[in-house]
Amino acid sequence: MKIGILSSGGDCPGINATIRGVGKTALMYYGMDVIGIHSGFIGLLNKDVQTFDERSLSGILNLGGTILGTSREKPFRKRLSSLGAEEPHLIKQNYDELGLDCLVCIGGNGTQKTAAMLSQLGLNVVGVPKTIDNDVFGTEITFGFDTAVNIATEAIDRLHSTANSHKRVMVVEVMGHHAGWIALYTGMAGGADVILLPELGYDMNKVNATILDRAHRGKPYSIVVVAEGIETPEKGHPSYYITRMIEEATGIECRDTVLGYIQRGGNPSPFDRNLATRLGGHATELIAKERFGRMVCVKNGTIDSIPLSEVGSKLKLITADNDLIIQGSRMGISFGY
Ligand code: F6P
Repeated sequence: MKIGILSSGGDCPGINATIRGVGKTALMYYGMDVIGIHSGFIGLLNKDVQTFDERSLSGILNLGGTILGTSREKPFRKRLSSLGAEEPHLIKQNYDELGLDCLVCIGGNGTQKTAAMLSQLGLNVVGVPKTIDNDVFGTEITFGFDTAVNIATEAIDRLHSTANSHKRVMVVEVMGHHAGWIALYTGMAGGADVILLPELGYDMNKVNATILDRAHRGKPYSIVVVAEGIETPEKGHPSYYITRMIEEATGIECRDTVLGYIQRGGNPSPFDRNLATRLGGHATELIAKERFGRMVCVKNGTIDSIPLSEVGSKLKLITADNDLIIQGSRMGISFGY
């Protein structure tokens, strides 16, 4: 068999560990041929590929980013490629011309949706979920998330001492447009006093009351963690708005920190390396068994797979019955509602 691997969408720590997991298992255990496709689906449109051997897959386990490059190219958008053919059909043509028996798509929700559509078009596709946001539907966890939570938690740990010294409120914005998983896990691990999530909404009066109440109880400083996707009446970083609102209402000096892409760059944590390796190995096993049109996933703590058709267009979101929210609320942490 000959398989192609691509990474698409935003990068995240652990993609290279997946490429290595898929590639080495395919080459060494199943005797498959493996090519890497550059820049996501753009590489399939341009036939921009490289051949992998065991050596070219060495030394990448702990590397951040993706050695294949990535893009947010969505071939099912309604437009014509520069080559004059509809992109999905050009992809199918190139898939055939490259002699591929299966395409491994490493990506988040958008990528898995495209993978499902390519599968409907007759390509053999296997998906591997990835994103620091941890919001891919159908899997309990995605690699990249643990690394991002580690980085963001370290940042919050550092903010405690400067917040304490100056008796300030520190507002920290973390990634997560639709889902607040990073905010929830980082906020709880970093000992935040207020955590605001896109899924649950918030009441500014309640946020301010929590900060004032802490001040009245002699707590000299507070840490507020907000997900970048929370709604505000203004454009721009929500942390700017929240910082201003708290300062105006409480009279306590506030500062904001936007962690941004620092959360997405750099080496994967050991947890993410192992998760990515396992997902990669299991993806290759699916291919060997010709179980196409599926995405590998984590279910009840073990590696499983689900049909790609069940993944597309859905998000895994936080609900108020999340145990961290229940336990946090009992301890006086405010979720803003
Ligand atoms: O990878 C997911 C994510 O980190 C989101 O949290 C963020 O909003 C988005 O990517 C931004 O990525 P880019 O600027 O690369 O589109």
